[in-house]
Amino acid sequence: MVPSTLMAIVAIAKATVPGYYQCGGIGWTGATDCVTGTVCMSQNPYFYQCLPLTTTSSSTSTSNSTGEPCTTSFVTTSFTHSKTFTSTAYVPPTSSSTSTASLTSSTATSTVPATLPTGIGLRGLNLLAQANGRYFGTACDGIWNNDDQAYLALTGNYSEFGMMTPTNAMKFDTTEPSQGTFNYSNANYIASWSHDRSQVVRGHNFVWYNQVPYWLMSGTWTNATLVSILVNHIQDEASHFRGKLYAWDVINEPFNDDGTWRADLWYQIIGPAFVPIALTTARAADPDARLYINDYNIETIGPKSNAHLALAQSMLNQSIPLDGIGCQGHLIVGVSPEADAITANFARFAALGLEWAITELDIRMTLPETTALLAQQASDYSNAVGGCVASAACVGISTWDTSDDYSWIPSAFKTQGDALLFDSNKQPKLAYYSVAAALTAMTVQGQFASFYEV
Ligand code: G3I
Repeated sequence: MVPSTLMAIVAIAKATVPGYYQCGGIGWTGATDCVTGTVCMSQNPYFYQCLPLTTTSSSTSTSNSTGEPCTTSFVTTSFTHSKTFTSTAYVPPTSSSTSTASLTSSTATSTVPATLPTGIGLRGLNLLAQANGRYFGTACDGIWNNDDQAYLALTGNYSEFGMMTPTNAMKFDTTEPSQGTFNYSNANYIASWSHDRSQVVRGHNFVWYNQVPYWLMSGTWTNATLVSILVNHIQDEASHFRGKLYAWDVINEPFNDDGTWRADLWYQIIGPAFVPIALTTARAADPDARLYINDYNIETIGPKSNAHLALAQSMLNQSIPLDGIGCQGHLIVGVSPEADAITANFARFAALGLEWAITELDIRMTLPETTALLAQQASDYSNAVGGCVASAACVGISTWDTSDDYSWIPSAFKTQGDALLFDSNKQPKLAYYSVAAALTAMTVQGQFASFYEV
């Protein structure tokens, strides 16, 4: 029998989770006891959170990673976690404002506002997203061969990014470079590196017209042989990662912008049946993963999103497994959609019972960057994130990599770039702060710090 004094000591030593912080979920190994006045509530299978029993304002003192004291203010008006927050526009501070920064920062740059409006205390984007029932994530490639410590520390920082998508490592050409020979070394590296940092992982992708291996592109296939290749590929990769990933982008970019089917290998030989075949195979091989169809230029209502809506409806009518729609979000500064237009579009998918996510967000500009372009970019990011936050069915947002020096944009669009939330020095841009505000639908105060307590 354990002596009562020892039990008391154990109880005292047990960590208590502060309000709005994670207290459980799949893979969670941290503390589960919530601070007095809050209870541990499930937001989704991966995220349980300490939430107040009533909607009140509170303030907790804590310390940042350097041990310096800081105060985190929780403005909990209507913070019942119903995901029905009203949007609070991000207003860049005026130069005459007095500093209210409550987190120390040695990293502010000229693009970072000196002060931010009063509101919720700034902490990492993922922590802010979690406080509103969602995740904030990023994507990466090549980290097994990268000694850029600043990039690795930021990309693997759970406070900022709770979801990881390998940009290339799980694609067909990487994972099945010759027929029937599978290579998951890069994918394994990213999955386990991210899991070590408590990040969940999004599988990307099984069926795409691009990054198809040469043996597959150059072969001569019948309907039966190509279906067999497709099924075998999905069975092998999905089984390999069975139970380890949050979601799979099963189908990537199946339509042209006008809503017609893309005449790729899959469509030409199998026809539209490649979609239900892939979804059904993925479900059987990895039953707990969320299954997505993912595409770009589907942020708002139009021919392409209409085609996706019809496809999704068709799949559901036939009881084909489909859980969500991935809205990639490769956007352009100054011509990005309004939050309301995004929300209105995805309300149609939500009405079918589907979840959705912004899966590859970046907002590029024509270089060189200017103060005006950065301000417009911050506004555009706010709209994209706000479009998710205003929709109860939107589970989270991921950017397509972390800092501008790792973005795919400059290699694809020669005169464009600077599309991400962090600059090439891994410092937060103005858009970082507008995203923080949009994630909470509140104003935020404080400066970026390299690490926030989780
Ligand atoms: O791996 C080869 C390497 O061996 C070779 O030396 C090098 C020379 O260029 O190319 C390397 O392959 C590149 C690959 O990325 C890995 O770095 C390809 O050229 C390059 O085209 C490929 O680009 C990827 C692109 O998809 C392909 O279309 C980007 O990194 C990746 O970010 C991008 O991601 C897509 C999503 O999957 C779907 N949505 C759109 C998004 C942006 O295009």
